[in-house]
Amino acid sequence: MKIVNVVGARPNFMKIAPLMAEYRRRSGIEPLLVHTGQHYDEKMSDLFFRELGIPEPDFNLEIGSGSHAVQTAEIMKAFEPVVLEHKPDAVLVVGDVNSTIACGLVAVKLGVKLIHVEAGLRSFDRTMPEEINRVLTDSISDLLFCTERAGVDNLLAEGVASDKIHLTGHVMIDTLLSHLERAQQSTILDDLQRQGCLNGDGFAVLTLHRPSNVDDRETFSRILDALEVIQRDLPILFPVHPRTRKNLATLGLQTRVDALVNLHLLDPIGYLDFLKLQASARIVLTDSGGIQEETTVLKVPCLTLRENTERPVTAEIGSNQMVGTDPDRILAAYRRALCGDWRAPQIPPLWDGKAAERIVDILLEKL
Ligand code: UD1
Repeated sequence: MKIVNVVGARPNFMKIAPLMAEYRRRSGIEPLLVHTGQHYDEKMSDLFFRELGIPEPDFNLEIGSGSHAVQTAEIMKAFEPVVLEHKPDAVLVVGDVNSTIACGLVAVKLGVKLIHVEAGLRSFDRTMPEEINRVLTDSISDLLFCTERAGVDNLLAEGVASDKIHLTGHVMIDTLLSHLERAQQSTILDDLQRQGCLNGDGFAVLTLHRPSNVDDRETFSRILDALEVIQRDLPILFPVHPRTRKNLATLGLQTRVDALVNLHLLDPIGYLDFLKLQASARIVLTDSGGIQEETTVLKVPCLTLRENTERPVTAEIGSNQMVGTDPDRILAAYRRALCGDWRAPQIPPLWDGKAAERIVDILLEKL
């Protein structure tokens, strides 16, 4: 059985890694790997392939950046000939990025079965580009693998047949659990200590890249108001996404950020170093989806700078709290978390490192 597996952007890499490894361990599946090239910088892409032991892609479509329409269309145009030539039995897509929907559409229009890993998540916020990608990809998929119960419920509510839906746990957590020990050996904290970024009293980790937060000057400034206060008592380590780096300059916020002496802007960092940072942080502030889940497993308090989450289990039983972008709300939650007023989090069901194994079992049975 031939399966074309698709990755495009940074959060896809840790999801595909355990599946590629699982295919290798089992017989019966011939995998091909396609990288759309949506993310292309060494630090946004190649580094992750090396660290996670993902095989060299069989095809790199080298699409790069563009508007949503251009990026999606270019991926479709470049992906179609690959499917036509290799005639896979199925195409497998992960997550919710433009590469996910673009390749999904190509597959189903050619009559090839579509598998969606990380299906059913819904923020119910259609202004998020990822929400559109999620809803559309799920509606055309033949097999849908969910990370949490809410994903199954959302799909059933949308009328997806129950025999297409499987709750299998989370491939991204497979990767986290299998790399945690290696990540603990990362020297990033020593390096940052030498560079004067740490003071021995712990630190916060920050990531920001959602268009709703970093494309809008007023919202970005409100977040900076909160960070200005936090960095007075806790150094903040901030690996900066390329979109955010660009916007700091174009929105005229670079000088303001430079004035915050304890807010340390870093280049994007690799998987193992970032895992070490998360695991060692006193608190994480983020607008990412995956980090809400990783901090839940690491049991580190996470403040999500958004009003909604498509990953409700992280807030229901995990260590995640939605705090929006109002500085007072962020600071109140920050103070509660630092003084230990934080419910002991639980690990969501099936987030046990065996999701890829369950998925491959089902693929071998169903396809
Ligand atoms: C994309 C995903 C988002 C995911 C995020 C993770 C969509 C709609 N969005 O957002 O869901 O959370 O990836 O990072 O698919 N750039 C570089 N180097 C790179 C890649 C991008 O410099 O390797 C810059 C480009 O200037 C580009 C900008 O970052 O214009 C944004 O990249 P893009 O792929 O459009 O979206 P992300 O914001 O990364």
